[in-house]
Amino acid sequence: MAQTHKTVKDYIRTIVDFPHEGIMFRDVTTLFADPRGFRMAVDQMLHPYAGRRIDKVVGLEARGFILGGAVAHQLGTGFVPIRKKGKLPHTTISQEYQLEYGEAIVEIHDDAIEAGETILLVDDLLATGGTAEAGIKLVERLGGQIVGCAFVVDLPELGGRKRLEGMGMDVHALCA
Ligand code: PRP
Ligand code: ADE
Repeated sequence: MAQTHKTVKDYIRTIVDFPHEGIMFRDVTTLFADPRGFRMAVDQMLHPYAGRRIDKVVGLEARGFILGGAVAHQLGTGFVPIRKKGKLPHTTISQEYQLEYGEAIVEIHDDAIEAGETILLVDDLLATGGTAEAGIKLVERLGGQIVGCAFVVDLPELGGRKRLEGMGMDVHALCA
């Protein structure tokens, strides 16, 4: 019987006009739900950073928590969440940003990262790069050094990669 070799991209579905008309929403829940797909995604996200010192993984709400938790477990590091405003219980620092469809504020606990710690930033998708840029700024304001930014999906037409590379970031995505 012929073997099928599915790629990470094959596990992701696109929902037209969600959450607003004109948005082609990349739904990674189908990737997360598949044991092979999920493991493949986590392993491939780690691959470029083999042998690098990573002290903590920072994940962006909400799907960056699922990936970031798995990546941190695999690396044997701690995991730090960046959450939408008002969700974290201890003292935080905040950063405003623009979305592909709206505006928001994200926060991190002000004691979650120590100065000099090396950080891998993880999220499911890079679109305009606004969310990731806000995350990078929060980490850097706490003195963390971003080793890289890892995503499952990059939507290059929305400019996020250029934006992050323009900030000197090392950006890796598994598919477009
Ligand atoms: C999505 C995605 C990224 C962000 C990317 O999250 O998971 O975090 O958008 O867009 P950007 O590059 O234009 O900033 P969303 O804001 O939908 O939040 P959610 O994961 O909490 O639903
Ligand atoms: N976040 C911003 N744009 C998105 C898209 N097209 N699909 C999924 N998440 C997104």
